[in-house]
Amino acid sequence: MSDINIKITDREGVTHDVVAPTDMSMNLMEIIRSYELAEEGTIGVCGGMAMCASCQVYVINDPGLEPMGDEEDAMLAEAYHVESNSRLGCQLHMVPAMEGLAVAIAPYP
Ligand code: FES
Repeated sequence: MSDINIKITDREGVTHDVVAPTDMSMNLMEIIRSYELAEEGTIGVCGGMAMCASCQVYVINDPGLEPMGDEEDAMLAEAYHVESNSRLGCQLHMVPAMEGLAVAIAPYP
């Protein structure tokens, strides 16, 4: 079994229980898009290149995420609505260790 259970709160404040595959090379931004939890055109604008911050999420429950890379850190330094628990969804690659992850999608920049 390579699916994990995560919780994603959308921009309206509704929390969704989502089953996410870890064997399809998907990142969290792509999961949010595939479940249509954010309006088309307001998430993943740069295609997952860590260059737009439209995929920003707030981490509510962290089961042990990989530390931030330099590109993610640099983008978040310039983004709006950034909090201490902000991450870029496109830089969070779905792996089994993310079971139990809970995030809230940040406002559209
Ligand atoms: S999709 Fe643009 S920074 Fe993540």
